[in-house]
Amino acid sequence: MPSPNIIWHSRKISRENRLELTKTKNKVIWFTGLSGSGKSTIAIELEKKLHEKGILSYVLDGDNVRHGLNKDLGFSTKDREENIRRLAELTKLFYDAGIFTIASFISPLKKERDLARSYAGEDFIEVYVDCPLEECEKRDTKGLYKKARSGELKEFTGISHSYEVPENPEITINTKDKNVEGCVEEIMKYLKL
Ligand SMILES: Nc1ncnc2c1ncn2[C@@H]1O[C@H](COP(=O)(O)OP(=O)(O)OP(=O)(O)O)[C@@H](O)[C@H]1O
Ligand SMILES: [Mg+2]
Repeated sequence: MPSPNIIWHSRKISRENRLELTKTKNKVIWFTGLSGSGKSTIAIELEKKLHEKGILSYVLDGDNVRHGLNKDLGFSTKDREENIRRLAELTKLFYDAGIFTIASFISPLKKERDLARSYAGEDFIEVYVDCPLEECEKRDTKGLYKKARSGELKEFTGISHSYEVPENPEITINTKDKNVEGCVEEIMKYLKL
């Protein structure tokens, strides 16, 4: 809870007012999935596609945010919780700004994703980037699975830390069987854009 001396300062311009300028009802596209499943790859292609259509969009990527805002956080349970709490709050601000917000975070726990969902209501689109662990491990784009298997990396999602598969995501995309372009197309189709 904030200190009782901190008072919310209300403003004169709302998200709805801002949408009158952007002329697009913005959404939150929240990608969740194992490391290496393809969240960042699809997110940046989706951002490009939306941009080409004249839609103001922005990717918030877990790794990038850890370079700045969250660089004080590690990977303990407490820090992971704080990491995702800040990411949900950051997403909320971008959404309120009227920007088409693309969030690319492993976000392994349902309660974390639900917190983010509560900030955007019906405009929250959870995209489960579904890729078998074996395939993610084969890709091992960052060499992290190798480190997790050798024990160098503790509590790695999918290996030694659980990932809760979304129960009712708005979209599920299988990146093992579909190429990046096909995945982006599927999301654009869902968005009717
Ligand atoms: N259909 C697909 N969609 C996305 N990526 C794919 C697809 N098919 C193959 N790939 C490959 O899988 C890898 C996905 O890596 P990426 O960094 O996007 O994963 P990530 O989910 O963001 O992982 P992390 O959580 O570690 O950031 C890339 O090398 C990409 O080229
Ligand atoms: Mg990524």
